[in-house]
Amino acid sequence: MKLTFFGHSCTLIDFGSTKILFDPFISGNELASNVDIDSIEANYILVSHGHEDHILDVERIAKRTGAKIIAPYETCMWFAQKGLDGHPMNHGGKWNFDFGTVKMTNAIHSSILPDGNYGVNPAGYVIESEHGNFYYAGDTALTMDMKLIGMQHQLDFAILPIGDNFTMGIDDAVICADFIKCKNIVGVHYDTFGYIKINKEEAKSKFEKAGTKLTLLEIGESEVLN
Ligand code: NI
Ligand code: MN
Repeated sequence: MKLTFFGHSCTLIDFGSTKILFDPFISGNELASNVDIDSIEANYILVSHGHEDHILDVERIAKRTGAKIIAPYETCMWFAQKGLDGHPMNHGGKWNFDFGTVKMTNAIHSSILPDGNYGVNPAGYVIESEHGNFYYAGDTALTMDMKLIGMQHQLDFAILPIGDNFTMGIDDAVICADFIKCKNIVGVHYDTFGYIKINKEEAKSKFEKAGTKLTLLEIGESEVLN
């Protein structure tokens, strides 16, 4: 699985035959101005919640690529009203897609759509496929529910928010990695805004002390994770 980071929480997982994109927020991210949004290929776009910093470019990319949107039910219906193809899910549910299974997990956060519509409870996702398994936490606090993920899934890597203030910070993300039993973490949701600036070296050393690898990619950079 190849992961490409497009800034903030936007990550693309490339299975070779299938490309799945998470939470596209590129055109509104000054730090991602070098990313050519109209060259991103995607077969699926997974949306964690309705905040603008997670959905801003969903419509633009979905219309061009024909990608299917996987999102919490009410958010999916909101996209459907815009004529976009979607697959609605809700917490605890799992579905078999052509690339593998997607299970929607709990996230503790808030969610409202940019036009004021109710964005429903935020979510994360566990993806299991023949290529490997991973967890995309979305925007969330540390929660005991993450222990269920560690009990039920063997993860190759996990994509966790580490920016603090709006989500888990570094210390709680280290505990999350322990809860989900995953030693290979990709950090997201940091540095984009003033409230979430982090010290990257400090973050890496805190994870290292816990025996966990933290990968922080440059925007546009890719890494093969297993
Ligand atoms: Ni949010
Ligand atoms: Mn966010």
